[in-house]
Amino acid sequence: MIETRVIDLFREYDTGIKEGARLLKLGEAVAFPTETVYGIGADALNPNAVQKIFEAKRRPADNPLIVHICDMGMLEDITRYCSEVALGLMREFWPGPLTVVLPRSKNMPDTVTAGLDTVAVRMPNKASALDLIRLSGVPVAAPSANLSHKPSPTRAQHVLADMQGRIPLILDGGPCEVGVESTVVDMTGDVPELLRPGGVPLEALRRVLGEVRSTAKETDAPKSPGMKYKHYSPRAAVVVVRGTKSKEKICEMYDGFSRTESCAILAKEASSEYGKRRVVALGPGERDAARNFFDALRKLDSEGVERIFIEAMDESGLGRAVMDRAVRAAGFNVIQA
Ligand code: TXA
Ligand code: MG
Repeated sequence: MIETRVIDLFREYDTGIKEGARLLKLGEAVAFPTETVYGIGADALNPNAVQKIFEAKRRPADNPLIVHICDMGMLEDITRYCSEVALGLMREFWPGPLTVVLPRSKNMPDTVTAGLDTVAVRMPNKASALDLIRLSGVPVAAPSANLSHKPSPTRAQHVLADMQGRIPLILDGGPCEVGVESTVVDMTGDVPELLRPGGVPLEALRRVLGEVRSTAKETDAPKSPGMKYKHYSPRAAVVVVRGTKSKEKICEMYDGFSRTESCAILAKEASSEYGKRRVVALGPGERDAARNFFDALRKLDSEGVERIFIEAMDESGLGRAVMDRAVRAAGFNVIQA
């Protein structure tokens, strides 16, 4: 067991960033906040350091990592080639919740890319993350800081719950502003391809790129290795309910199951139709839903809730990313009502 230290960046910013950078340079894994979710970072150019991330998360080795950079100069170490269109995309959305898949440079260890010929890169929109990368002086490979299969962490206490005793340091920067992971877009083919919906809506990508193919659908064979794994799963059984009669259907199922199990409903709002049933309201807008979704799953888990009914929401904007996570949390158990 490693002793896990938590440093609050609101109180000890310089100490936290310095200690984080020192550990990264030593080849250790450090958890840090980004605008999307918390990540566990390690020096992307050091295969032994990267290996520690896989061990801490219990992550399958065939699932590649996103490399985080703080300036465009770092791209050269990582990629072999970057088209004008890809550069335009970065100019538009970086720093921000967009990950771009590009041809990898040979400097990139196989542990980072899982042996693929491509590498995923992102510049996060969070000052502390950028300062951490800058001070460490290296590109930082970082997956979300949860144990594999668990909901992604959007608060330092979520990271601590999964990572205590597994990594030496967690930097606490408060709750994440976006709350769902970055959008992953593959720019290595003829047509840009959405591999994972996330913090940058597909509509915004299309405004800049024109055509974007979407392979992130539930039924398609996953091109992004991470999409094939069981994901975001709380301990509770989860079901997503879609359609105009979703509230009615949820009430009916809730009343059946709640005789023997503790149940909860996840919905944008605690609508009067739900009456006295336990509802966790995500908030009225898609941005609220994105920010609160993973926290709500973890909260219900820690309360010992056994069955969660998720009321489907509109898939426009960030709603697409939230519904993607909801459907995966449900293990694709979706009911049409
Ligand atoms: O917002 C985020 O992206 C967060 C923060 C920490 O930056 N990170 C994150 O990493 O969500 P992770 O490892 O949980 O998800 C990375 C996703 C996985 O689905 C992985 O398969 C995919 O990106 N990916 C990574 N490299 C890839 C590549 N070369 N080609 C295709 N997909 C790739
Ligand atoms: Mg993840």
